[in-house]
Order: sequence, then C-alpha cells, then structure tokens
Amino acid sequence: MKKEFYHTAMKINIDTFDDVMPEEYFEKNKNIVFRYDLMNFDKVHYFQKADVIYSEPPFPHGFNIFNERADIKDQRSYSDFAKSLSLSIQNINKPTFLICGKILLKKLPEAKNVFPIKLSVHKLDTFVAVWNYKVKFKISDTDSLIKNLAHEFNTIGDFCCGYGNNIFKFIVNDQKKFIASDINGKCVAIVKKRLKDYCDQKY
Ligand SMILES: C[S@@+](CC[C@H](N)C(=O)[O-])C[C@H]1O[C@@H](n2cnc3c(N)ncnc32)[C@H](O)[C@@H]1O
Repeated sequence: MKKEFYHTAMKINIDTFDDVMPEEYFEKNKNIVFRYDLMNFDKVHYFQKADVIYSEPPFPHGFNIFNERADIKDQRSYSDFAKSLSLSIQNINKPTFLICGKILLKKLPEAKNVFPIKLSVHKLDTFVAVWNYKVKFKISDTDSLIKNLAHEFNTIGDFCCGYGNNIFKFIVNDQKKFIASDINGKCVAIVKKRLKDYCDQKY
C-alpha cells in the first residue's frame, strides 16, 4: 500500500517528522507553500490566487499538540482560532470546504451546506462545511471530494496543509496547482521536499 503523508495529532501509525529543519517558503511550477499563522492575517492575500479553499483545521483535542509542535508559546484558545478561521472564510470569499467536528461548526459562520464525510486517512466520520458553492456531486469521503474538486477547479488553497495529503491528490495534471500554508515550518519543509520529488519524477 502507498505510504500516506498526513500530519495528525492522533496516536495512529503515521509518521510525524520532528527531525527536519523548518522552512519559510518554496515555489515550483506555480505551486506555493509557506509558513503562515492564520491568526495573523499578514499572508491571507496569497489565497486570492486559489479558486477553491479546502482545509482540515485541527480538532479541539489536537489544537495544543499542533501548537507545541509549531513552538507557539502564546495562550491562544480554540475559540480564538475559530474566530480567525471565520474571518479567513469571509475575507478570502471563495468556494470553501472545511472539515469540521461539531464543536468547530458551532463557532463558524453559518455554512451553505454541511455534509457527513469520512476522513480517508483515518477512516473517521465527521463533517464537511461548505460556503459560497452549491455542491452538485455526491460527498462520501475526503479522497473522492478532492477528485471532484479537481474536476471543477484549477487551484486549491489549503491554509492548514500539514504534510500536504490533499494538495498532492489535487494536482493530477499540469493545470492543477496549490497555494498551501501551515503554521509549522516543518510541514512547509515536508511539502517542499514532496513537491521537488514530484516535479523531478514528472519533468
Ligand atoms: C489535522 S492537521 C491537517 C493535516 C493535513 N491535511 C495533512 O495532509 O497533513 C491540522 C494542521 O493545522 C495546522 N495549524 C494549526 N494551527 C494553525 C494556524 N493557526 N495556522 C495555520 N495552520 C495551523 C497544524 O500545524 C496542522 O498541520
């Protein structure tokens, strides 16, 4: 079975890469990955280049674990994070798909639709909330959702990209690009390495 890259706070059998040098920014073939704390808004304009937003923000149980891994020392709460996420959805104002549990859902602006969905890597049941878009396909799991998004859109934006599981599933041909960021520079380094390897194999 092909190895999955996924930055998770759950104790499951997937590698977390602690021993890598953090990176700030990398760009190749119009795919961009950069370090960005979505609670700062200083780089939110990058996502204007995307025509769809898809992201898997932390669930409450993983929030502090991800903050520790990213060396965040402030006392941010999950509600503060949800407020910034709400402002990001409104500010970017594109078709937006966010994977959310019930707690996060209650803290976000009212979505146009909310569908049950299975996380393909974890096989966990949760929800996807959709803003600014009328869904015309069936939603079952995250891998098939990404396939459908790659049919309809050309550039995916993911502001919690982790190790890039979804963005690399999206770029199935040369027209498809990603704009991706994470608060953790080690995630940026992993996506940079994957993007280099992907381009080396392909071109
Ligand atoms: C559930 S993981 C996403 C996993 C990702 N889909 C993957 O393929 O690896 C949530 C991600 O959100 C990131 N994150 C947490 N707080 C953030 C913030 N304030 N700004 C940007 N990213 C953040 C974490 O570092 C983590 O990589």
